[in-house]
Amino acid sequence: TADKLWGGRFTESTDAFVEAFTASINFDQRLYKHDIAGSKAHSQMLNKVGILTDEEMNDIHQGLAEIQADIESGNLEWSIQLEDIHMNIEARLTDKIGITGKKLHTGRSRNDQIATDIRLWLREEIDAISAELKRLQSGLLKVAEQEAETILPGFTHLQVAQPITFGHHMLAWYEMLVRDFERLQDCRKRVNIMPLGSAALAGTTYPIDRAYTAELLGFDRPCNNSLDGVSDRDFAIEFVSAASLIMMHLSRFSEELVLWTSAQFNFINLPDRFCTGSSIMPQKKNPDVPELVRGKSGRVFGSLFSLLTLMKSQPLAYNKDNQEDKEPLFDTVDTLLGSLRAFADMVPNITTNKDAMRAAAMQGFSTATDLADYLVGKDMPFRDAHEVVGSAVAYGVETGKDLSEMSLEELQKFSTIIDQDVFEVLTLEGSVAARNHLGGTAPEQVKARVAEAKKNG
Ligand code: ARG
Repeated sequence: TADKLWGGRFTESTDAFVEAFTASINFDQRLYKHDIAGSKAHSQMLNKVGILTDEEMNDIHQGLAEIQADIESGNLEWSIQLEDIHMNIEARLTDKIGITGKKLHTGRSRNDQIATDIRLWLREEIDAISAELKRLQSGLLKVAEQEAETILPGFTHLQVAQPITFGHHMLAWYEMLVRDFERLQDCRKRVNIMPLGSAALAGTTYPIDRAYTAELLGFDRPCNNSLDGVSDRDFAIEFVSAASLIMMHLSRFSEELVLWTSAQFNFINLPDRFCTGSSIMPQKKNPDVPELVRGKSGRVFGSLFSLLTLMKSQPLAYNKDNQEDKEPLFDTVDTLLGSLRAFADMVPNITTNKDAMRAAAMQGFSTATDLADYLVGKDMPFRDAHEVVGSAVAYGVETGKDLSEMSLEELQKFSTIIDQDVFEVLTLEGSVAARNHLGGTAPEQVKARVAEAKKNG
């Protein structure tokens, strides 16, 4: 029937429900700019190899530019009958410039076209995500620098373990994001390969110049195999997997922010503008942003499994299944960009409650390891020192005293080699300052890493 661009071999028109069921225009319209850029480059290449005249190419470029303007001013109505972004634009082009519009698809298929569009789009989004990631990293460095000397308890098993500096804790998040950034850049290398020219699956009979099209579109090179070119979605899975790791990191970070803002911890405050209230409980200030980010991580992990499952049984080459790659991918980008943006805005505005963190660090015998190390310094074997300090802690639990609150006489009941100088190591400041090596929590190390990171990333 005549109402479809591919209608030649059909004797009845598509069932209306099937038409809506198979259409992707409702979501793939998001790729319009990249589809148009791809078509411009393709027609320029067809002109270079002598398939389109200068005039034809110019008409196509002119028509596509007008279509882009129509889309951007809201003057193009998408048609479900035209199925997807590619045919919507092509049909509109032919309306505008006549039969030349019908020559654009020479040597091309929607299969290599869509694979190219997604890569062009994703490349741009990776760059936007990378920029937000960097912004969040700068925020973390700012807080780390400000709070290089601020002491809080560090936890293992969520039990007080040893005193650490707040700056050191912020830098732990920073280092995770360093790896996340590298992963994105590495993934981008495999995104930036051009499928165009693969045509439907086997390549094309026209004397195309793929290197030229790749150069026009800023791709590093054309793909090596046409079957692989139209059917590979590894790059999308790889991206969503990098995105999942970022969301996992943000979710862990969120969990800490939620705990730390609770009255029970009271370690930090988030600015009011990043929190919301309760409709019934007037006193509430809820950390909605971190909670939402923690929750949204699930969408991205879900997308990763959607895409892996989408691909796992597909025979070569293109299958319509692939149309299902877009929504999880779009949702991943939106979720990730939104979460990173919220964190990049919020993190540099975190304020700390130093007294509460200090009090918490004083509570859980956080300098017990320091006392053991002190005894080792006086020639006691570490295992014996561990035992001695364990007894002192048991005494502290019984009497409600921290190690630093015990008198010298009390401490000497556990070992006579303990001396007046013990009190230097039992202070929180002494404890963190003593861990002064690469990667340690000492304020000096925090400041050094901040300076280094500001210089080299
Ligand atoms: N909308 C399709 C997709 O998203 C475009 C390619 C369609 N190709 C085809 N032969 N039906 O994958």
